[in-house]
Parts: sequence; C-alpha cells; structure tokens
Amino acid sequence: MQPVVAASSLALNRRDFFKQGALAGAAVTAFGPLIVRGAENAPGRRIRAGVMGLGRGLALAQSALPIPGFELAAVCDVDQARVDAALKTLAPKTAAPPRPYRDLRRMLEDSNLDAVFVAACNHWHAPATILACAAGKHVYVEKPASHNAREGEWMVAAARKYRRVVQQGMQRRNYPSIIEGVAQLREGAIGTVRFARCWYNNARASIGRGRQVPVPPNLDYALWQGPAPERPYVDNLVHYNWHWRWHWGNGELGNNGIHYLDLVRWGLGVEYPRSITYGGGRYHFDDDQETPDTGVVTFDFGASGASWEYSSCQARKPEKFPLVTFYGDRGSLSLEDNSYTICDPQGKATAHAKPSGNVRTHIADFLDSIRNGGRPRADIEEGQKSTLLCHLGNIAYRTGHTIHFDPAARQIVNDPAAQALWSREYRPGWEPRV
Ligand SMILES: NC(=O)c1ccc[n+]([C@@H]2O[C@H](COP(=O)([O-])OP(=O)(O)OC[C@H]3O[C@@H](n4cnc5c(N)ncnc54)[C@H](O)[C@@H]3O)[C@@H](O)[C@H]2O)c1
Repeated sequence: MQPVVAASSLALNRRDFFKQGALAGAAVTAFGPLIVRGAENAPGRRIRAGVMGLGRGLALAQSALPIPGFELAAVCDVDQARVDAALKTLAPKTAAPPRPYRDLRRMLEDSNLDAVFVAACNHWHAPATILACAAGKHVYVEKPASHNAREGEWMVAAARKYRRVVQQGMQRRNYPSIIEGVAQLREGAIGTVRFARCWYNNARASIGRGRQVPVPPNLDYALWQGPAPERPYVDNLVHYNWHWRWHWGNGELGNNGIHYLDLVRWGLGVEYPRSITYGGGRYHFDDDQETPDTGVVTFDFGASGASWEYSSCQARKPEKFPLVTFYGDRGSLSLEDNSYTICDPQGKATAHAKPSGNVRTHIADFLDSIRNGGRPRADIEEGQKSTLLCHLGNIAYRTGHTIHFDPAARQIVNDPAAQALWSREYRPGWEPRV
C-alpha cells in the first residue's frame, strides 16, 4: 500500500504558522475575509462533492442532496459493506449514482470534484484534509477537526496555503436560533457573563474486550489505520469504538464535548484558556476503553470560566439538560439543541426562541463560502481553537494534573509530560506535510 503523499516537502514550522495566521488575519474586510478568488466563485455554480467515511458521511450526503447546486459525485469508504449500503440508500435520491472509491487518494485525483466531506475516524481528519487541500478541494471536516493539537496547526496552514474553504462540522454555528442567542449574550441580555456550564449524558454500553481475529474481507484495515502506527486488528474497534482508544479517538470530550465547548467559546467571546483541569475516570466497566466515561472538565479564561460535566454510561434514560447555560449578573441564557431560553435572576423564563437550523443550513454555508470566496462561520481556524480545548482537557486527564496554558504563545507552560501529548507518532511514510 502506498503511503500518504506529502503535499509539499516543506513542513511548516511554528513560526511560519503564526506568520501565515497573521497574514490571513490582515485580509479581513467588512464582508469577511476573502480567501478564494477566481472563476470558481460564480454565484449558483454547481458544486460536485465526494464523501469520505460512510457512517456520519452518509447522513451528511443525505442532508446535502436537496440543496440546490449540490451534486454528490463520489463516495469513499474502506469498508465495502458500507459503500454498498450507501449506494443502495442513495440510489433513489441521486440522478446518477456517485462513483465509489475505497482509497481517498484515488478520489482526490478526480479533477471534477470541487469539495470533499471528511467524515472518517478522527485520526484521518487532518491527513485527509491536508491531502484534499493540496489536491485543490475544499473541505468539510467533521469534528473534532484534529486528533491532536499539532494537526490543528497544520490544517489551518493547509487551508491558507492552498486557499481552500475548510469548515469544521460544528453545525450549530449555522443555526439561526443559536446565532441569535449568542448575539443576545453579546448585546448584554443577561449582563456581564462570568460562567458557562455544560452538561452531557448518555447510556453507552461496555465495549468489552477485543479479540485478535482475521480482518473481515469487506474491510481494508491497513487503509483504515492509514496515518496511525499499525496495531493488530481486534473485533471491538471498527466501527465507532475507536472513539474510546487514544490511538485513534479523543474520548467523549472530543466526541461530544467539542460541540458544547465551541458554543462556550463563542458565547463568552474567548479564545484560549489559562488553565485546564479534568476530574473523572473510566468508572463504569472493566474493558478496553481507555478514555474516561465520567468527568468534569474546567477551563479558566481569565475573566470568565466554564465547565463541561458529563456522564456517558449512566443506566437511566438520559436526562434533558440544555447544552450550555451562561450565567450573567442579570440572569442566565441557555442554549438548547437548536433554540435558547433567557431567565431572569429568579429563574423565570423571559424569552424562548423558536427552534431553527440543522446540519443542512451548515452545509449550505460551506457551499456558499466556496461560491462567494468568503470564510464559513465554522472556519477551520475557529474550529481548531475549540478543538484545542478538548485536546487540552484530554492532556490534563492523561497527565493527571492541571495544565497551564499561555494564550499569547499558544503553548502549554513548562510541562514536558503535557507537551509530549501535543502531537503524535505517525506510521512511517505517512507524516502529514503542509
Ligand atoms: N457533527 C456531528 O454532529 C457528528 C455526528 C456524528 C459523527 N461525527 C463525526 O464523524 C466522524 C465519523 O463518525 P462515525 O460515527 O460515522 O464513525 P464510524 O466509525 O461509524 O464511521 C467511520 C467511517 O469511516 C470509514 N473510514 C475509515 N478510514 C477511512 C478511509 N481511509 N477512507 C474512507 N473511509 C474510511 C470507516 O470504514 C467507517 O465507515 C467522527 O469524527 C465523528 O466525530 C460528527
């Protein structure tokens, strides 16, 4: 099997990354930053896309199909069973069947493709995005955008270097009700905000103990592993349960916390925390899961703070909480799935927004950004700031101590054990290059 082809032999160092970020920032205009220019910016232009990873990717494809001017030209998965199932599901909904691929690199050779949806496992997000940008494709990449902090830097650098639209799958950035709720916070609806609290709960089962068994014939496991150093195939990893192993996933914080913490960062108007703590553990089952199932992660942003409290494996039916509640000196504002509620200091609801927005409105922003040369609301640079909160939280858990972070230098302070988790090892020959 061929390794990932380096997009350029020149890897960007940290200084170059910040220089590029500064230059990109200078391009901001009243209409938003202009990052793409040329014939491809025609309004109403048809956009042909391919989708990588046909779990979440199939849902994204189905959401995108009704959007005028969207064409699903290709689908890609290393599991032939998922390709077959996707083609069957999509057949009644597409004029012509999308072209099936197993290897992303072959799909990227199609010069008729404008965009790629990266909805494979987290360890593939950055390498696939970088390859796609280098191949001239715009990218919708699922959350968490990166498997580790260093990859986040590379992804922003790739988007800017190749002048591609790269949007992260944090769909609530494009829900009208949520946009309005955040605007209310900014306009002082609940006064000065000092704290944001998030809740998440689920009733996940044990992933058990994996047995080494032959790789199923429908799965190209070598390509599934791709950039991650090789590990033997076990029968409780593919699909989905890779989320709970650090080698491929980012635990519940990266899986679901990212949605909440992006709202926190947006609502509080903050970028990076000064310190991060993580109390929790794998309390529920004795199995292969390495990531915690219960925890409270806290972030100190200087003038405000936030917590993400979760329980992934509780037996009772999940309780209904808002995603985030912001507490101000004149009341509170809760962001729910796709609406918001404002309460006065006595807890009496004074405003409630009609639910609005879904992933289709998010994909539409991605397609419009390609056409008009602007940056999407969930641009990769914003997405990486939120994703970094998850990485820092996981680093706090894995090191077992508070992480201190220098927001100006965008670096962990004086902590070799934590700094060692900023990046990862790659399978030889598969190191991403920008
Ligand atoms: N934004 C959201 O609300 C949302 C919702 C669900 C999932 N997600 C994200 O989507 C991603 C996928 O999640 P999932 O639940 O579908 O996981 P999954 O494990 O069920 O599916 C991943 C798919 O990617 C395929 N894949 C792996 N390597 C590949 C490669 N090299 N080329 C092509 N296909 C490859 C797998 O075979 C599998 O079909 C995750 O990063 C997850 O966090 C986001």
